[in-house]
Order: sequence, then structure tokens, then C-alpha cells
Amino acid sequence: MWLGIDVSTTASKALLLDEEGVVRAVGRSAHTLQTPRPGWSEQSPDEWWRATQHAIREACEEAGCTGDDIRGVGLSGQMHGLVALDGDQNPIRPAILWNDGRAADECDLIRARLGLGSLIRHTGNDAFAGFTAPKLLWMRTHEPDLFDRIQHVLLPKDYIRLKLSGELATDRAGAGGTLLLDLESRDWSEPVLKALELPMEWFPRTYEGTDMTGRVSADAARLTGLKAGTPIVAGGGDQAAQAVGVGAIKPDVFALTIGTSGVVFAPTEQPFVDPHGRVHAFPNAIPDMWHVMGVMLSAAGSLQWYRDTLAPGVGFDELIAEADSISPGSEGLTFLPYLSGERTPHANPNARGAFIGLSLAHSRGHLTRAVLEGVAFGLKDNLELLRNAGLAMPAELRASGGAMGSALWGQILSDVLAISLVTVDASEGAALGAAMLAGTGCGGWANIDEAAKNTVRTGPIIAPSATGSASYSAAYERFTSLYPALHPSTD
Ligand code: XUL
Repeated sequence: MWLGIDVSTTASKALLLDEEGVVRAVGRSAHTLQTPRPGWSEQSPDEWWRATQHAIREACEEAGCTGDDIRGVGLSGQMHGLVALDGDQNPIRPAILWNDGRAADECDLIRARLGLGSLIRHTGNDAFAGFTAPKLLWMRTHEPDLFDRIQHVLLPKDYIRLKLSGELATDRAGAGGTLLLDLESRDWSEPVLKALELPMEWFPRTYEGTDMTGRVSADAARLTGLKAGTPIVAGGGDQAAQAVGVGAIKPDVFALTIGTSGVVFAPTEQPFVDPHGRVHAFPNAIPDMWHVMGVMLSAAGSLQWYRDTLAPGVGFDELIAEADSISPGSEGLTFLPYLSGERTPHANPNARGAFIGLSLAHSRGHLTRAVLEGVAFGLKDNLELLRNAGLAMPAELRASGGAMGSALWGQILSDVLAISLVTVDASEGAALGAAMLAGTGCGGWANIDEAAKNTVRTGPIIAPSATGSASYSAAYERFTSLYPALHPSTD
């Protein structure tokens, strides 16, 4: 079997995939999230490691196997997180996550140091507050004593790699999200590191997604039940691994993922860069491919916040059933999903969410429906951004993630995006993709195409309904007019 590990925001997950391409078990163990100030988002790397150990043991127990049955491990995880380590390879402070907005000023500083054009020419990207480099510069300004102790910088899944194998290494798809990688050469950018005065030695060696980066150490074997010496491949940042897991591996198939974040992901055969840097351009987890994507920060995260805050204890199914009886457009109620600020299309960590247009006529069902629609509108904005940047639209959108568990949300998405969604039976797509990268890297499959043919199982297709996007056009227009009206200074 192949083990795929996903160090996500909500939990560490361990998925066992057998050689026939069948998922045999998924273990998971939750993470806590700290929000010490509005807009900040942190987690403990050692909590990830404890959770990963637990998840691996749980998966093996569920599959009735031991470490001897596992031929290779692949890693995936939340992108962009800053894990700063001292000379003893211990975390200096909690990790600063992908949805943390504290480093807005440092984004301006990076643009000023390099010039936006040169930044985009080197990295393919503009600076976004959640990316790793701005957060490192934030530490330099605000926590100089801690900054001075840094000897190594890792991404979340690479901290787990270090704990599993003792190796400092990263995958190139994830490394793109630091803003320090040269997009074309797929390795650290000397000019960018120099301009930002960050030492190259802090950053681990980079690898293609299917490359082996090390082997499970004796210590890690004792803690996880894995066999010492089991190979570990690089894997990929969660979005790139997810795309592999749902079979979005060619330019005509995009992935739509609605987890905590919401992502429209397009595989490309060459680097594809938006000249304005509004969408992200990174290497792909598939060797010699790239990808471009739009990322909204609070997608299913919006519904989670809404339920926990306004309807605690009520099941998602009950809330969604109430929303189903409300007509498209939520009778004039609009939800802006910018609860963690926003990345695309509005690069503004200080953007905030809102319900607009409330009246006495609105019920809880309206509020819920407005949340589902607001997230769908945000994803439409992202798809439009890719279209406007000149990317050919796909034949298929492979849809996965929490939202696809709801027939209503799936239909809203298909109607709003005006595209058929091919659902994929992959509740843990990133962990699955990581296991497929392990299977390919360790010789179980000749390449990712073969891994996908054997593993990815598509489910029902959700086609736009007869009234389709027309029934949402007024509501979408209202939605797009509200961000500039509420955030005039940033538009
Ligand atoms: C991608 C991103 C998020 C996180 C979520 O750029 O920031 O999708 O990776 O885990």
C-alpha cells in the first residue's frame, strides 16, 4: 500500500491506497487553530506531528495492516505556512498559516524592493499576505529576537517530513507558495532572496513531487508504526496534490476544491502568468508541469463559521434543507465571504465579510442560502479572473471538497459557474494525491496518468439547471458591486 499524509488546517490525515488504486482506510486527528488577534492564524507544528502519528496508527488499524505493508509515503499539506526553526531544528514560534493577514505592509515592502514587474517575472506572482516571504519579513520587523534565531524555514508538511525522516526538503509545488521560488527553473530564486536579504541556506533542497526525499527513521518508526527505511517522496502542496487526487492532470481539466479555502486550479504545460499577478502561478506536483489558480480564503470555512456562530449545534443538513426552500438570489440578501480577508480576486487581507440587505422577511434559511451563494459567487470571480488572464476554459471541472457533499450547494455552484461539475469520489483528495505521487515515485505506477487511470473514480455530473446562471445574474451583479462599495480605498 501507499500512504498519503495531508497536514491540513483542520486535521492531519493519513490515507492508505492499495496497489489496485482502492482507498483502504483514512485516519485523521484534529488540529486546533489559534487566532491571537483578528486576522492572525497560527498552529503548533508539534501538534501536527502528534496528530500525524495518531492518524497513521488509526489508518493502519482500520486497514488491518502494519508498517510492513506500506511501500512508500507521500506528503501534502496546507501551503504557505511559515515554520521557523532554530539551529536544533525546533520551532521558534507557532507556525503562521496561509490565511493569516498580518503581513500586508511587508507585501508593499517586497513590491518596493523588487518592483512588481520583476517580482512577477521571477516568481510568477504578486505578494500576498498569506505567502511565506512576507511573513518572514514581518518576523524580522516585529519579532527581531526570534528572527535572529532562525536557521531553517520549512512549510507545514515539510516539518512532518523532517520528523519522519530527519531530512530538510520540500516539493516544488509547495515551494512556489513561498514567493521565493523562480517559477521557470523551479528552484529558489537568488535575486529575490538577495533583494529581501534572506539567506539561501535557510531553505531546504527542492524536489519534484515524485522524487524520493528520504526514508522513515528508526525514531519515527517507533512513534508511527511505519517500517524504518520506508521511502518518502516529496509530494505536493495541498492544492497540487488535490488536483492529482481528482485527476485534474491535463490543461483541459480544472479542479474546483471547496475546503476551508475555495480554489479553482488549472494545470498548465508551461508557466502561465497573469501579468498583473492576480492569480497564483506555481510548479505542479507533476514533474515538468505548472499550474495557475485562484484562491478564496473562506469557502466551506464561511459555512463552518456561520453554523458555529449563528446556529451552534444545528446540523449542516438541517441548515441546508432550510436553504433549499429559498429561491435563487436569497430574496435580495447577499453574503460577502471575506471572513479571513481575501486573496483572489481582491488581494486584501483587511477585507471583511458581510450580510447585506437584511429585512424582517429573511429567515435563517435565507441567511444560509446567502452564504452558499456568496461562496459560489467568489469562486465565479476566480474563474473569471483565469478567463480574463487569457486561459482557455476547460472541458471539465472536477469538483471535490466538503461542499460537494450537499446536492444544493453543488447545484448552486454549477448554476453560478455555468459549467458542468464532474464530482469525484475523493473525500480526502490531497491525501489521495500524495499517495498517488508516492506510488508513482516508488515504481508502483509508470507515471501520474497511469496512477490516475487506476485510482480516480468520478461520480455523478452536476449540470447547470434549465434556468441556470440567469437566475443568479442579478444577485451576482449585486455581489460584485458590494466589495468596491464597502472597501473603496482598496479598489
Ligand atoms: C492555497 C492556499 C490554501 C491552503 C489550504 O494557495 O492557501 O488552499 O493551502 O490548505
